Amino acid sequence: MIKEINILNGSKNEVTDAESLKQLEFINKAKEYVSELEKNLGRKPTACVVTFGCQMNARDSEKLVAILKLVGYEESESENSDFVIYNTCTVRDNADQRVLGRLGACSNHKKKNPHMKIAICGCMMQEQSAVEKIQKSYRFVDLIFGTHNIYKFAELLCTCFESDRMIIDIWKETDKIVEDLPVLRKYPFKSGVNIMYGCNNFCTYCIVPYVRGRERSRSPKDIIRECEKLAADGVKEVMLLGQNVNSYGLDFKDDNPDKISFPELIEEVCKVEGLERVRFMTPHPKDFSDELLDVIERNPKIARHIHLPLQSGSTEILRRMNRKYTKDAYLELVNKIRTKLPEVAITTDIIVGFPGESREDVDETIDVVKKAEFDNAFTFIYSKRTGTPAASFEDQVPEDVVKENFDRLLKVVQETARKQSEKYTGSVAKVLVEEVNDHDSSLLTGRMSNNSLVHFPGNEELIGEIVEVSLDECHGFYFTGHKC
Ligand code: SAH
Ligand code: SF4
Ligand code: F3S
Repeated sequence: MIKEINILNGSKNEVTDAESLKQLEFINKAKEYVSELEKNLGRKPTACVVTFGCQMNARDSEKLVAILKLVGYEESESENSDFVIYNTCTVRDNADQRVLGRLGACSNHKKKNPHMKIAICGCMMQEQSAVEKIQKSYRFVDLIFGTHNIYKFAELLCTCFESDRMIIDIWKETDKIVEDLPVLRKYPFKSGVNIMYGCNNFCTYCIVPYVRGRERSRSPKDIIRECEKLAADGVKEVMLLGQNVNSYGLDFKDDNPDKISFPELIEEVCKVEGLERVRFMTPHPKDFSDELLDVIERNPKIARHIHLPLQSGSTEILRRMNRKYTKDAYLELVNKIRTKLPEVAITTDIIVGFPGESREDVDETIDVVKKAEFDNAFTFIYSKRTGTPAASFEDQVPEDVVKENFDRLLKVVQETARKQSEKYTGSVAKVLVEEVNDHDSSLLTGRMSNNSLVHFPGNEELIGEIVEVSLDECHGFYFTGHKC
């Protein structure tokens, strides 16, 4: 029997190009284990991947699903499956709590199904305290791993079949990227494409740099190759993913002939035949260059949507957040975008209740929302993350004050967003049809280039197509319309 792996404090691991080949061998080995399980059960075993958090996690989950299906599991939505894996997020405390609640409920299924295996991975598992909590209070979990070694899921799965003990494999850091592993997209017509991993910005409230490690850019050749493969496979829209996409390539050595900037990369991606829309997420305002604006202007394939996280409109709070821009600099950038690219929708993220935030600071944020006329904004209540600098800042804001400020801000955000959307009523937009409407199956739901949603009558054969839709009525965050 293989011993319990516990390298919680393990250092950097050498991962070579041969690694993907090694993992493919583990996939074959896992197939045998799953086929044995199928014989025992007298049916095909099922697997469920539950994803929390951002697009990076969603993309990672597609890799997990691919391996589970390749080794012989049938994908299921039910947490009462033979293999359940939680891909966690830890950006705010409520994300942690949700996972633990779901995990607790899942243990009841395991009591009735002795073959069941439960795994947990992702950002939350990069925090030692979270792993210790699982080890102590959630003993029924079979496998724990982190963000840096997700590529060896097939190997860990084999270890899991070979051991009855809890397997824990967490790496503190990695500087390698493993290419060419299987991935199964959730949508046939659109896909995320990681262009870089990690973050070097260390905003003082944020846990991401601690759980995702330092910035590592994928080589442009690998990115373009992936985009070409996706396009050949029928994908029409890609979203280039990174925590700060504008710093793409900065980690390449100067003498690296492959070294290119983010604007250069996105322009290359636009040249891929078959791709019709290119999105990117997330740019950091401090690094948003004029060159990027020029590239967007001359490439109609680039979606008319820029998500530009503000976090706060108060220059002093921004300084203490380590965001490296001022209120005026942010507004100037928005102004530049609106002037050069008037058809672009600008959305943002805002945090309310950062330590020391006064009512006047929130007024500054509200002022930016009004002046920037955001098309939409995600508003978050500040969540204290252990290990980040802001967790030890004095003057944490009392909950009732945060709540009042949050409500004040939300009201303005909603008014502004509605006003912005209404501008489009009566116009015709190209939409990528994504799915049959959840609430009314006679309707389809499509996404405009500027990221707005529109529901319109249509046949599901149109899913994955780009069609022209007349935007008849605005309902705040979405439209209803009809196909032209
Ligand atoms: N890299 C991106 C987003 C990362 S996380 C960026 O720089 O914008 C997504 C959003 O979560 C952030 O934009 C921020 O608004 C929010 N967030 C991050 N840490 C948080 C915390 N501790 N409390 C509340 N919201 C937080
Ligand atoms: Fe977090 Fe800031 Fe990095 Fe975004 S840029 S992931 S908010 S540290
Ligand atoms: Fe959450 Fe990790 Fe993304 S903490 S927001 S899933 S990078």
